[in-house]
Amino acid sequence: MIPNGSIAYRERGVGPTLALLHAFPLSSALFEPQLAALADACHVVALDLRGFGQTPLEGPYSLEELAQDVAQTLAALGHERFVLGGLSMGGYVALAFQRLFGDRLQGLILADTRAGADSPEARERRLAIAREVEERGTEGLVETMPDTLLSAGAAPDLKAHVRRWIAQADPRAVAAAQRAMAARLDSTPLLAAVRVPALVVVGEQDALVSPAEAEQMASMLPNGRLVRIPRAGHLSNVENPVAFNTALREFMRAIVP
Ligand code: MLT
Repeated sequence: MIPNGSIAYRERGVGPTLALLHAFPLSSALFEPQLAALADACHVVALDLRGFGQTPLEGPYSLEELAQDVAQTLAALGHERFVLGGLSMGGYVALAFQRLFGDRLQGLILADTRAGADSPEARERRLAIAREVEERGTEGLVETMPDTLLSAGAAPDLKAHVRRWIAQADPRAVAAAQRAMAARLDSTPLLAAVRVPALVVVGEQDALVSPAEAEQMASMLPNGRLVRIPRAGHLSNVENPVAFNTALREFMRAIVP
């Protein structure tokens, strides 16, 4: 258990609550474009997952424990029910939240993420990355990850920005997150039980989650809808914030008018 009040977050705006969970190995800073653009439509709360941003590392942990952190933090803010959105690793945590606290959701946003667990090979790769960053630091990730997270057409200064974000990640937090993702459960069977409206978002050039995979996930959600974000890779919210924010704004308006 992480002590009450330890989870850092950025918040802006008034109205229905939209909690956002960031990708690996970033922080709530990822959602600055959403905090800025959606504040007139909703109360955006972007959390720092354990070990990232301003939240201390308390680990090892499971994704279910991260979901408990979210539940506890939002309850302390007075939000029993809210819309939860996660991008990539944040989406894995949002699905863990659905598993544990599904009745607290008013809506679910899954961006550039997948419901399935890792293959044995993917799991091994993650455990190897965890060992490597513990021994040698995150230099390798800082070099290679921006190209994977962004499309080939991404602006050079956005790429430099993402590189700086990755460089800020604590290697111990990176290792803990890789181990938690490696151990995550298959959430595919949960999708049919998501009764609230669900929005699946994917960058058309996402190198980690293909639009076809996202489309399949959307089709398994009884109340699901897919929005493809043009001219964007995996971090679709920062590569094409206008399209991403439009999708979220429409979703929020339809759920909590
Ligand atoms: C992320 O962007 O959060 C990661 O790419 C997720 C993953 O490693 O599966």
